[in-house]
Amino acid sequence: MAEVRHLRLAVLLSGSGRTLENLLEWIDSGGLSATVAVVVSSRPDVRGLRIAERAGLSTRLLPPGGQSVEGWSERIFRACREARSDLVVMAGFMHLVRIPADFTGRVINIHPSLLPAFGGRGFHGMNVHRAVLERGCTVSGCTVHLVDDEYDHGRVLLQRTVPVLADDSPESLAARVFAAECQTLPEAIQRIAAGMLS
Ligand code: GAR
Repeated sequence: MAEVRHLRLAVLLSGSGRTLENLLEWIDSGGLSATVAVVVSSRPDVRGLRIAERAGLSTRLLPPGGQSVEGWSERIFRACREARSDLVVMAGFMHLVRIPADFTGRVINIHPSLLPAFGGRGFHGMNVHRAVLERGCTVSGCTVHLVDDEYDHGRVLLQRTVPVLADDSPESLAARVFAAECQTLPEAIQRIAAGMLS
């Protein structure tokens, strides 16, 4: 059996923090060999920040306003570096950033569709599920992928499918996909820790 490294994670978020909450539950229950070393929020007053603070985690509020994408990205990755992060996890982080050379291949994102379908600019949150239903898809799911400098573009690391039911609303489909995300992201991180993914 492969040796499992203990990973220091930087979690980037912009919203309600359910993804962070789920990672913390997996860590607490021993299912994920990791520590959340820092949480970076792009928005003030979001539930995700409150969850991080309540868990006693180190937090940084770094909104993008009034600076270039390059300058903003550098501040984000400086925070990740200072926290000695092995892996950066975008957990409901709704922005494109420039990844510096020392983090190439060490930034992952979870997306609520089977990429490359329903990815890219504008495809986030409930928009994705509305588009899946409008297109008449019979399966959907989630994707964990490496992040590069394009929206939802980097190499796919892990996917999980869910059925789309005839009477689904965007909300009911979102809930089913999110339940799949709650398994898939920790599993991907654990596989990275075990050296089973790049
Ligand atoms: C998750 O469903 C995640 O896949 C999605 O946002 C939600 C975050 O929820 N991410 C994207 O759409 C990225 N393109 P949370 O803020 O409650 O963790």
